[in-house]
Amino acid sequence: MKVLVVGGAGYIGSHAVRALEESGHEAWVFDNLYQGHRGAVPADRLIEGDLLNPADLAAALDKSGAEAVMHFAALALVGESVTDPAKYYSNNVVGALNLLDAMREKGIWRIVFSSTCATYGVPPSSPIDESMPQVPINPYGDTKLAIEKALDAYSHAYGLGVAALRYFNAAGSHHSGEIGEDHDPETHLIPIVLQVALGQREHVTIFGDDYPTPDGTCIRDYIHVEDLCSAHVAALERLEQGQMMKLNLGTGNGFSVKQVIDACRKVTGHEIPAVMGERRPGDPAALVANSSKAFETLGWKPKYTSVEEVVASAWRWHQANPNGYAN
Ligand code: UFG
Repeated sequence: MKVLVVGGAGYIGSHAVRALEESGHEAWVFDNLYQGHRGAVPADRLIEGDLLNPADLAAALDKSGAEAVMHFAALALVGESVTDPAKYYSNNVVGALNLLDAMREKGIWRIVFSSTCATYGVPPSSPIDESMPQVPINPYGDTKLAIEKALDAYSHAYGLGVAALRYFNAAGSHHSGEIGEDHDPETHLIPIVLQVALGQREHVTIFGDDYPTPDGTCIRDYIHVEDLCSAHVAALERLEQGQMMKLNLGTGNGFSVKQVIDACRKVTGHEIPAVMGERRPGDPAALVANSSKAFETLGWKPKYTSVEEVVASAWRWHQANPNGYAN
């Protein structure tokens, strides 16, 4: 299939491009390079453009000959979404609706959409399954839920085939060592801890140790980015017209902030000083996926189940590329 990967120069998008190519598909990238990296994608497959410019989208769908779209291009910083919601509604909602309009115009009916466990807000219990209420607690989660709802309606009315994939915490890097995680600013736990190991930061601050978890720090479900992307390809290949899949993508294993830091110490052999800090607003105590629906629907299972393996994969990239794509 020819697939336009919107946001394909970003962290997860660039790994999706690799996963598509490895499965025999033809991946094209549409990206404005705001967060994406030119070095993350093949130059002859990159179409620069902006979601907020419908003419750019129409041209990209034509040039790629796309039969399907994977949509990763979203802003994803929870804190920034609280202080600058207009930016989030514009990019994540208006941009996504522009994309859906452009697809309808061209008769493209397959879409895989990056959704998030942030749509669950503070879940009533953990692990989280897809039937739990979606009550986001920040504008970022609201924008993702708004598009899930639009996709539901469009699927019903216009026959769109949709996979809305609710990610837990993506981590790790491609096995080739050629692409990995490079955010500016970096806010995610694993890359921050590895920056301490590299001597780029003095310490990691643990955001609160008074949560109702065994060691008091927040628990998350860290899914390897290649596992995440193989699920995208499996979903794409199974999509039927008018179908709406909503699937959690996680491993089902939760690790606390302290456990992640310990795993990083073990993998890197560095001491990694950690200091205790305040809670970060908007952090639920535990977010762990029940992904059995994805296992059944997609015939998929994550290959990486230990957090050490995920950290080791991230560490290979960070060690070889201490300045990310700027190297
Ligand atoms: N953390 C620290 N110190 C840091 C960075 C993070 O203690 O310096 C903690 C956080 O408080 C959290 C855990 O490490 O408990 C993981 O934090 P990340 O920022 O790596 O990931 P989040 O779970 O906050 O975010 C992820 C996605 C978001 C998504 C969110 C849904 O990256 O896009 O899940 O809750 F919105």
